[in-house]
Amino acid sequence: MLVDAFGRRITNLRISVTSRCNLNCFYCHREGYEAYNELSPEEIAEIARAFKTLGIRKVKITGGEPLIRKDIVEIIEKLPLFDEISMTTNGVFLARLSEELKSAGLSRVNVSLDTLDPEKYRVMTRGGKIERVLEGIETAVSTGLTPVKINMVLVENFNTDEIDDMVEFAKRYEGKVIVQFIELVNLNYDGQGHFDVDKLRERFEKGARMIKTRDMQRRKQYIFENYAVELVKPVDNTEFCSACNRIRITADGKIKPCLMRNDNLVDVRGLKGESLINAIKKAVMVREPYFRG
Ligand code: 5AD
Repeated sequence: MLVDAFGRRITNLRISVTSRCNLNCFYCHREGYEAYNELSPEEIAEIARAFKTLGIRKVKITGGEPLIRKDIVEIIEKLPLFDEISMTTNGVFLARLSEELKSAGLSRVNVSLDTLDPEKYRVMTRGGKIERVLEGIETAVSTGLTPVKINMVLVENFNTDEIDDMVEFAKRYEGKVIVQFIELVNLNYDGQGHFDVDKLRERFEKGARMIKTRDMQRRKQYIFENYAVELVKPVDNTEFCSACNRIRITADGKIKPCLMRNDNLVDVRGLKGESLINAIKKAVMVREPYFRG
């Protein structure tokens, strides 16, 4: 089991498989890192196997946009068995790939969707077509890549007027779609439009049948009759960091202990066996909370 110097257990691994993306969202933090020389499916599997022996339970595949990799199905197939393998995607290629991804072992998807308005979507993503994303969500649900989580990053004066619309959208899927309202992070972005998601707490506390605090970063999940919403507040949130159980791998094979920093990366590309395990342990020991009390 991996535990850092602050007593935080590491159970979630995020693997970025590419920094490339077919969209260009104006606020994107690009996972805080740009990779050029991407790992092969076999290299990814090697690293994932090592993390598995060290107690990692859940894996999330991220990008860039993971589905622009031609070998994405092979990447999933080669991963060892985990409790959950999920993926964050913009959904544009999801309709076409859902079934293959499911067969390869993908458990579920997060789909980035900040607006339901086709014109706003085009502006936000600089050219994206929302119809393909909606079709992607539909297919992911029917294929059983569920629960599908919608990532809605809230930007004041841009989409904060669509919070209720997004809840209504999710309701139609009767529990198979969960909306996550995500606070805008100032990383590779000047931060205009910041909206404190704590402002939504009261609103969702009201009608909720149950409120869960997830282990992961102490996220609040509000459960209603046939749908659920989740609030993700990473900014200036000491609780979020003190309960952070994730670690990241960049698309070129570096362990990235924190989204917000690049001065503590540990390169594990090409390492095997004991030296790989030791490098992972070293990266865990340099982990520290970014926002502290
Ligand atoms: N702030 C918060 N979340 C972001 N994401 C990307 N950029 C930002 C940002 N500046 C997250 C969103 C998106 C996913 C791909 O990455 O959750 O859906």
